[in-house]
Amino acid sequence: MRMVDIITSKRNGNELTDEEISFFVEGYTKGEIPDYQVSALMMAIYFRGMNERETLTLTTEMENSGDKLDLSAIRGIKVDKHSTGGVGDKTSLALTPIVSACGVPIAKMSGRGLGHTGGTIDKLESFDGFNVSISTSEFIDNVNRIGISIMGQTADLAPADKKLYALRDVTGTVENMSLIASSIMSKKLAAGADAIVLDVKTGSGAFMKTLEDSKALAEEMVRIGKGAGRKCIAVISDMDQPLGNAVGNAIEVREAIDTLMGKGPEDFTELVMTLASYMIMLGGRASSVDEARALAKEAVESGAALKKLGEFIEAQGGSADQVYHPETLKVSDKCINIKADRSGYVERIICDEVGVSCMMLGGGRASKEDVIDLSVGIRLLKKRGDHVGTGDDLAIVYYNDEKNLSEAVDKLKASYVISDAEPAPQDLIKMIIE
Ligand code: URA
Repeated sequence: MRMVDIITSKRNGNELTDEEISFFVEGYTKGEIPDYQVSALMMAIYFRGMNERETLTLTTEMENSGDKLDLSAIRGIKVDKHSTGGVGDKTSLALTPIVSACGVPIAKMSGRGLGHTGGTIDKLESFDGFNVSISTSEFIDNVNRIGISIMGQTADLAPADKKLYALRDVTGTVENMSLIASSIMSKKLAAGADAIVLDVKTGSGAFMKTLEDSKALAEEMVRIGKGAGRKCIAVISDMDQPLGNAVGNAIEVREAIDTLMGKGPEDFTELVMTLASYMIMLGGRASSVDEARALAKEAVESGAALKKLGEFIEAQGGSADQVYHPETLKVSDKCINIKADRSGYVERIICDEVGVSCMMLGGGRASKEDVIDLSVGIRLLKKRGDHVGTGDDLAIVYYNDEKNLSEAVDKLKASYVISDAEPAPQDLIKMIIE
């Protein structure tokens, strides 16, 4: 088999055979096929697409390209969650303790942030002493003992996807439905959970900008999950403005804790409760989504979810005191208020610009090697639909280094689109794909 024939075939709009997909995934992972040929193939797939069979085969080949996590030593139905990414998305931090407090074991591998979006692992490191680099056996023991563990990715899960995603990132071939679906699902399937709840974002800050495309992506991922014998549900949620009010690391952890204390922002709380309900239901702890939601609500109101977060932080080297006293999570004292230079309604807050502004403050990575400042961030005081007068505070920027401050402030200011007309209200949860 020759790689050039596979590229030509896809360029001409043909379906790839399972053997051809297996050939290029294996060859590329082993370093036998060069980047330039795989780049050409990715571009051909980007324009020509792949059908369901090709997408499923690509997923399976990438899933089987490296280690797979064996969670069979954990009792109960393990439910994982994945978000397609966004700004201010601290969902896992509040969601997982609620679900665990309701009796569903959480054994989750998470990643670090890159570019304008953050990562759960960085956010967790805001807790003094918290260790994300535990061994797989410690991870499994923790889940069996206290019902929850989250670790950084140590095992070499889906290495084919790691290489392909890095290549797609620099060749303009990320935004293809089959490529995104197979990339995400190959990692989720290799991570070993019995059931997966997907949070598929839609809007300006998402990979998929329209509801139609987000729905197609969600359906594709659910199909792949079910095809692999896992229970799978997707929630399509709004990412046309940042989620909640906090963007950064420690500042987002504080907001997640506030939410577990029952005083989180409305949009973030709603997303957390919706995802929690589906995870609890798939985890077999409730027979309907309404019953599951009542359990999730009770876990928050009784303090059981907050206690679970404390146990989790303590089991991995941190102190539960910081959970009960979130003000001890270090957010910089230096801050600047961003003011509106006209009156009107907040029509939009361009997510990517807010994320990049936070990155410029030092709260995110431009490249994998960057060290981030967990104490900087942004608090949005006004969100879509709010009325503002000239000179009103829109947001607060928490910073340490003045190097890129004015550029970060300008970017944040420009992310607020203020118009005369009040925008129509938008639903946070757009659709559920079961
Ligand atoms: N996230 C992934 O892991 N892969 C993609 O292709 C896009 C988003």
